[in-house]
Amino acid sequence: MKTKISVIIIAIVGISFIMAAWPPQSWKAPASADSKLNPLKDNAVATKEGKKLYDQTCVVCHGVKGKGDGVAVPGLTKVPADHSSATVQGQTDGALYWKIENGNPPMPSYKATYLPTQIWELVNYIRTLAAKK
Ligand code: HEC
Repeated sequence: MKTKISVIIIAIVGISFIMAAWPPQSWKAPASADSKLNPLKDNAVATKEGKKLYDQTCVVCHGVKGKGDGVAVPGLTKVPADHSSATVQGQTDGALYWKIENGNPPMPSYKATYLPTQIWELVNYIRTLAAKK
C-alpha cells in the first residue's frame, strides 16, 4: 500500500516537472547578436575555408549537407538543427555566429577553439547549405 502511494507521488511530481518545461524552449540567440555584422560576407575564399572547418568538425553531428544527420546523432540527447532549413537560414549571420561561439549542449561552444574569423567562415559556409528552391 505504502509503495503504491509513493509511486503515485513520484509520478505526479515527475509529470509536473515535465509540464513546467513544456513547450520545450527553442534555442534563441539574444537580439543583440543580430547587430553583429559579418565582415566576410560574400567572401568566396572565406566560404571555402569554412567548408574545410565544417567538414573537419561539424559534419559528425550536422551531416555532410547540414541536415542534422551526422554519424554521432544516435548518441546525442538532442537532434542537431537542419542547417538547410528556413529556421536556420532565416537567422542573421550575427545570430548564427553567436550560437557557434556559445553552443548549447550537446552543441559545443567554439569560442576557445576558433578565431572570430573562422567562425565567420563557418557562417558563410552554412549559407551555402540553404535548401535549393
Ligand atoms: C556533438 C555534436 C555537434 C557538433 C560537433 C556540432 N554541433 Fe552544432 N548543434 C548540435 C546540436 C545538438 C544542435 C541543436 C542545439 C539546440 O537546439 O539546443 C546544434 C545547433 C547548431 C546551430 C544552431 C542552429 C539553430 O537551431 O539555430 C548552429 C549554427 C550550429 N549547430 C553550428 C555548428 C557548427 C558550425 C559546428 C562545427 C564547428 C557544429 N555546430 C558542431 C550538435 C553539434
